[in-house]
Amino acid sequence: MIDSTLIERIMEIEAKSERREIKSYAIRGNVLSENEKELIAKERKYLVFNESEKLDFSSLFENSNDTVIEIGFGSGDATAEIALNNPNTNYLAVEVYLHGIVNLLRLIGDGKIENIRVIRWDASELLKTAIPDSSVSGFHIFFPDPWPKKRHHKRRLLKSDFLALLSCKLKEDGYIYIATDWHDYANSILEEAERVETLKNESSSFSERSSWRPITRFEKKGLESGNNIFEIVLKKRR
Ligand SMILES: C[S@@+](CC[C@H](N)C(=O)[O-])C[C@H]1O[C@@H](n2cnc3c(N)ncnc32)[C@H](O)[C@@H]1O
Repeated sequence: MIDSTLIERIMEIEAKSERREIKSYAIRGNVLSENEKELIAKERKYLVFNESEKLDFSSLFENSNDTVIEIGFGSGDATAEIALNNPNTNYLAVEVYLHGIVNLLRLIGDGKIENIRVIRWDASELLKTAIPDSSVSGFHIFFPDPWPKKRHHKRRLLKSDFLALLSCKLKEDGYIYIATDWHDYANSILEEAERVETLKNESSSFSERSSWRPITRFEKKGLESGNNIFEIVLKKRR
């Protein structure tokens, strides 16, 4: 028997997205097949949270390991690979793309991955309502939607207010790892980060690619189009 409340909660973001606020995402493909519903119910790694309560990572993951939050994981292939390679770190994977959620749950099942929890929610709202301050060891934001048209720049996620929110959720020495293949977005992220007093960019500009970061699906498309990749690593100031 599929838990219908679970499926209803997964679809809740659609209703929320009808609100008129500016969103950093567009909802695509919002229908689940019966098989996909069964997969979600079976994996039990999908997280239903209560907006009025903060998440407690130690009870969520049943350990006291560091927790990294990945925002906008897309298909989740890189998320699964990173989690498999780092079994002693917890990963909370946040995405609104329904079929990405299903794909990551499938990868979790196939790889018997224990250290990922998945949630379909607007990362901005999730951070504001459910993530305790000074609780997160790192944020991964690989290839945030570039919103290339000038009139859409307001939809870009990585602005100073969002970076300040991430910083507030980071533990001391926590990091934010960003990668993008859009040069003007990369430059604007550097500028926006400079406005956040609680963050520092140790390389003062772009960073070297870290060997642990797998090539993501979106990155592959960028590389095939001949784009350069820009990595930005920000640390929380002590
Ligand atoms: C360009 S895709 C990159 C996906 C993946 N990281 C990759 O590199 O292949 C950006 C993703 O971020 C998600 N996203 C955008 N804004 C978001 C938000 N506020 N909360 C959660 N996910 C978001 C989108 O749904 C989209 O799947």
